[in-house]
Amino acid sequence: MCGIVGYVGHRSALDVVMGGLRRLEYRGYDSAGVALPHEGRIASAKKAGKLVNLDGILAEHSLPTVGSGIGHTRWATHGAPNDRNAHPHLDAGSRVAVVHNGIIENFATLRDELESSGHEMLSETDTEVVAHLLRDELDRTPVASSDEAEGTALPDAVRAVCRRLEGAFTLVITDAEQPDVVVGARRNSPLVVGRGDGENFLGSDVAAFIEYTRDAIELGQDQVVAITSDDVVVTDFDGRPAETTEYHVDWDVSAAEKGGFDWFMLKEIAEQPQAVADTLLGRHSAAGLLQLDEMRLSDDELRNVDKIIVIACGTSFYAAMVAKYAIEHWTRVPCEVELASEFRYRDPILDRSTLVVTISQSGETMDTLQAIRYARQQRARVLSICNTNGSTIPRESDAVIYTHAGPEIAVASTKGFLAQVVACYLLGLYLAQVKGTKYGDEIGAIIAELERIPAGIQRLLDDADQVRTLAAELVDSRSILFLGRHVGFPVALEGALKLKELAYIHAEGFAAGELKHGPIALIEEGVPVFVVVPPRARDQLQEKIVSNIQEIRARGARTIVLVEDGDDDVVPYADHVIRLPEVPTLLQPLVATVPLQIFACELAGLLGHDVDQPRNLAKSVTVE
Ligand code: M6R
Repeated sequence: MCGIVGYVGHRSALDVVMGGLRRLEYRGYDSAGVALPHEGRIASAKKAGKLVNLDGILAEHSLPTVGSGIGHTRWATHGAPNDRNAHPHLDAGSRVAVVHNGIIENFATLRDELESSGHEMLSETDTEVVAHLLRDELDRTPVASSDEAEGTALPDAVRAVCRRLEGAFTLVITDAEQPDVVVGARRNSPLVVGRGDGENFLGSDVAAFIEYTRDAIELGQDQVVAITSDDVVVTDFDGRPAETTEYHVDWDVSAAEKGGFDWFMLKEIAEQPQAVADTLLGRHSAAGLLQLDEMRLSDDELRNVDKIIVIACGTSFYAAMVAKYAIEHWTRVPCEVELASEFRYRDPILDRSTLVVTISQSGETMDTLQAIRYARQQRARVLSICNTNGSTIPRESDAVIYTHAGPEIAVASTKGFLAQVVACYLLGLYLAQVKGTKYGDEIGAIIAELERIPAGIQRLLDDADQVRTLAAELVDSRSILFLGRHVGFPVALEGALKLKELAYIHAEGFAAGELKHGPIALIEEGVPVFVVVPPRARDQLQEKIVSNIQEIRARGARTIVLVEDGDDDVVPYADHVIRLPEVPTLLQPLVATVPLQIFACELAGLLGHDVDQPRNLAKSVTVE
């Protein structure tokens, strides 16, 4: 959702801001704009649609070459995605420009108040009130009275306005009368600082400035940051100096580029062997003893855990479903799985011995964040599994296991999912180690199997042509179904979600055993059904799914069967066979998901869709 960039330094701010917006495109947006302070007035341009539309009007606006500016990609919440509602929003005299991510919940009250004192609103957004409030505040706060450390009144004005706002907001502001400073504010929505040499940056995430610096600062809740070319000053909303955490980003600009692939998604699918290997790296000793550095919960606390609830949204929720099978099997601790958006509204039973595990690639998903806050209020311990260093979710958790998938740019999660599943296994095994429910050599054997997975994924990538051919054959399908049992069930759900979000065709995933309880009515002549067959080691499951395949085939389904090497029992009932490497049952999602990702990506491409930025979707969903 909304991408924000702010810059002060020695380069052309317009170039830096437009470059940053391009790197934030993956977050999802439907309009874009920039603002630059110049000779006492704001010069700005904004346009509905993609950045190419904004590029198209930049020349006619002849924006100046100056050393500071702000920019925004907007994912519409209040007001349609048109030119008028695009950010930045300006005050009536074009002195300040504001960009915003989040929702200002009391905007209607503020808007009434402003309109009754003579302000005229030009848009339907909640953001515009901030520009007007700021202008009033700046008129009341002469620059000379400002905080000496910052040498400007803009931070004072921003703090005063923030104290009046309710809801979630990241704001970034430029003032034409104080062009040497750009000010940001953060409550509940993401904002990070990039520290350069003679230049500083603000961004929704580090991708905004990774081209120029890998030194970043995490901002906390309710903080205001003022950047100049050589200084960064962070305070709380009352102006008291605030503590921040500096960190070095462990990936570089090449990781955020397509590297010769047509789509980021294709590149990210191809990076999965590495993502799995990197997430395992350094987390166990030669003797097979697991060590999780960021596990800030003591062994005693973990031994006392008597219930686990795993919470997430979307694809991360399917990783949570896989986690349940593994964690319960290895630890014998009851494990529930819950959609983050449902969790806090059902009055869940939590106490000090409940471990809440949240899974989020972005670390910014608002539903998940609110679930964490609720869980902590109820005294539960919260451990997050996250791919984004410095993001809000790990910061607000008691412990974290970072996945090391690298930046995931495509909206559809792929390597992020596989790395999450690996992190869930690591957590399950770590708990088993601490609680003594598995012997060290058993844990070591599972780790050894995990270490073989990257090679298995690579083989699937190398054999992907048959999946591409299949996508071409099925490109006209109106509906595609996915079946699985045990951990194959979340794989089926994930396969269906990928197809829905990328190809915009009807797709559903089912637990194969549920078929006869209703969904089998959907089977008609020629409908494609993917079936994830459990490894032969689980012979009971395997037999059952063979029956399920026979049932649907008898009713005309076109069966596409994902089955491990050497298992020929299902072949007589399969119209198409996709071979999977032999792996233990619990680990099968790490290989079975891959052909389904490739299938959805290929089919969407054939339909002419934007694979990396599907319609209506945002990468980080920062509103509830
Ligand atoms: O960043 P998160 O993992 O918290 O995101 C959760 C979902 O929004 C995300 O997985 C979404 O479902 C993806 N677009 C799926 O590909």
